[in-house]
Amino acid sequence: MKYWPASLAARTAVLLLGGLLVTQVGGLSLYSLDRAEMLNSAQESELSRQIVTIYRSQVLARPEHRANLIDQSRFNVAMTVRLTGDQPAVALPMAPAALQRRLRSDMQMTPLPPSLRPRTILVHSDARQERIVVVLQLPEGQWLQADMTLLPIWPWHSSAFLPTFAVMSLVATLLTLWAVQRLIRPVGTLAAAAEALGRDVNAPPLPESGPAELALAAAAFNTMAARIRRFVDDRTFLLTAIGHDLRTPITRLRLRAEDVEDDEQRRRMIGDLDELEATISATLAFGRDATLAEPATKLDFAALVTTVLHEAGDARPLLDPAAIAFDGPSQLAVIARPVAMKRALTNLVANALNYGGSAHATLQPPAGGMVTLHIDDAGPGIGPEDLERVFLPFLRLEASRNRETGGVGLGLPIARNILRAHGGDVVLVRRPGGGLRASVTLPA
Ligand SMILES: Nc1ncnc2c1ncn2[C@@H]1O[C@H](COP(=O)(O)OP(=O)(O)OP(=O)(O)O)[C@@H](O)[C@H]1O
Ligand SMILES: [Mg+2]
Repeated sequence: MKYWPASLAARTAVLLLGGLLVTQVGGLSLYSLDRAEMLNSAQESELSRQIVTIYRSQVLARPEHRANLIDQSRFNVAMTVRLTGDQPAVALPMAPAALQRRLRSDMQMTPLPPSLRPRTILVHSDARQERIVVVLQLPEGQWLQADMTLLPIWPWHSSAFLPTFAVMSLVATLLTLWAVQRLIRPVGTLAAAAEALGRDVNAPPLPESGPAELALAAAAFNTMAARIRRFVDDRTFLLTAIGHDLRTPITRLRLRAEDVEDDEQRRRMIGDLDELEATISATLAFGRDATLAEPATKLDFAALVTTVLHEAGDARPLLDPAAIAFDGPSQLAVIARPVAMKRALTNLVANALNYGGSAHATLQPPAGGMVTLHIDDAGPGIGPEDLERVFLPFLRLEASRNRETGGVGLGLPIARNILRAHGGDVVLVRRPGGGLRASVTLPA
């Protein structure tokens, strides 16, 4: 099936146009053959009339005037007539029975006394009935030979035929293509909606209009989307509720920990509680992000990146200012949810600064509909086997499990979650000279 098109619209169009072609050709053939037969029959009857006329005039004329009469006659078919004493030898085969019958019956109908009727009637013709020779014997014994050439009849021969056919076919083709496009369009809409739902559960529902089957499919899709949304909401709500309810016992534990006599034990307990609380805060923030239906607006991505870099620098007063750098256009408009997008970038910049000691952002103008932002650091990087693993929630690499870098292991999954919801993504790659690169893509 090398030439079978891939798209449903093209397949439907091919089938419809194929069917149209078959009916067109069939119908036109029928019409043309019919027309040819009619023309043929008209020519034959004209011819037969001419023969009868000439025979009548000959048989009624005096023998000595007959040759003269032939010379003076005018015929409205291409015909030559001769009068001979002997039976003419004709090189053509006998004509089809229908033609013979027609001539004989026309001759019968002529009002002539029986004594003046031809003694013999012979009709010859070539295979295509374009040349016809009729041989008649007059009652006196003389032979009359009429040679005729009929106009060839082409079934498709008509000056209006080709242009009409072309216009008809063109109009039918355009109408078919238009109708197919219209009918198939909702399938594309459905695919786009499924794609949008994959990125954002809060994507707007499909319009439930159009043909019954499509309206039904759209309604089913909307119901499914609503169920997924409720499922996600329930899960997020559960997570947030647990996080929230854990706060009170942690506060109580903290108060009790203050009473612990052993200094070392107390310090460790409070450390553990701090960590627990940080995890819960991050979880709560995650839940808040997921439920927060922040509207997407047009924003300046370059300005957002520089703001994030500045704020990260401000939060780390001991850091060498040269560790933070931005390279790229001073303005670049994208459609995004500002708070969420800022959180994603903040997480990536924080990682670069915390684990790599520097953050160099390079913003590239749109290429192929996508904007690319690299956030590079010069730290130890990550082993190739962990480049994808670190996107798992709560996953922290052993080396970074120390209190200074804090963190609960939600930064990367949150960033990826947010970017994918925007139709983009983030991946980590190892830089050739050492260090890690977080590569962000976003639809322009
Ligand atoms: N630029 C980097 N260089 C080296 N290791 C990194 C880098 N970025 C992330 N990692 C590793 O990936 C792990 C996961 O990062 P992620 O941002 O998800 O969590 P976190 O930074 O530990 O905590 P959080 O971001 O939630 O505060 C980190 O603990 C760290 O080990
Ligand atoms: Mg982080």
